[in-house]
Amino acid sequence: MKEHTLKIAVLGTGRVGGTLGRRWAEAGHQVIFGSRYPDDEKVKKLIGDSRGNATATDHRTAAEQSEVIVYAAPWPVAQQLIGSLGSLAGKVLVDCTNPLNSDFSGLDVGYTTSAAEKIADWAVGARVVKAFNNVSSAIMANPVFGDQRATMFYCGDDAEAKLTVRQLAAELNFDPVDAGPLRIARYIEPFAMLYIQLAVKEGWGSHCAFKIMKR
Ligand SMILES: NC(=O)c1ccc[n+]([C@@H]2O[C@H](COP(=O)([O-])OP(=O)(O)OC[C@H]3O[C@@H](n4cnc5c(N)ncnc54)[C@H](OP(=O)(O)O)[C@@H]3O)[C@@H](O)[C@H]2O)c1
Repeated sequence: MKEHTLKIAVLGTGRVGGTLGRRWAEAGHQVIFGSRYPDDEKVKKLIGDSRGNATATDHRTAAEQSEVIVYAAPWPVAQQLIGSLGSLAGKVLVDCTNPLNSDFSGLDVGYTTSAAEKIADWAVGARVVKAFNNVSSAIMANPVFGDQRATMFYCGDDAEAKLTVRQLAAELNFDPVDAGPLRIARYIEPFAMLYIQLAVKEGWGSHCAFKIMKR
């Protein structure tokens, strides 16, 4: 049994949600996938790959049963989906979104606000942390490069919530870096556009990641 097992709702069972949820379940946390189709074969396979530590249900039930909620569904449905979850008071809500515009050429929001801040407005009472948006799901599956670990920048306004997310990132073998308050998502979200530019447009592929150095 883990020292501190968390109940984690992972909303969305695609590349990001599937990878993060499976890995946290493997690490011993209790993962509840929130899905539109919890009985789908894809979701059953995910549960089968999660060492007996994952189940699936609808979004609202998953959120109600969890202390940490990871939003890993598309940005355009975020307001509606989060609005359907019921009370989120006190819960840690991890926002993994990139608010890409419809042709993926840029961001829907930025400069004066961010997806994370909008989500915090919609998720009344939740302690929102931006994280897991600036690498590919392939890196979420394995952030280790030789003796180096990929940096995971995160930000938020609640110190305890950030510590929880820091721990969750470290358990996946990321090098977690606290970038400050939630409004810093205004920089972390465009940073993901740089990642997409390099990975997709410049041909680096999905097995690259950012590393910050210090001396
Ligand atoms: N792909 C990446 O490398 C990457 C990296 C960083 C951040 N992100 C961000 O992470 C989020 C998820 O991206 P992804 O690549 O994992 O996407 P994805 O593979 O398309 O998966 C998204 C999941 O969200 C759910 N979903 C899809 N449409 C929905 C709808 N209309 N209403 C409710 N749920 C819906 C689905 O799960 P169910 O079928 O189970 O409902 C789907 O599997 C996005 O906000 C993206 O910007 C992606």
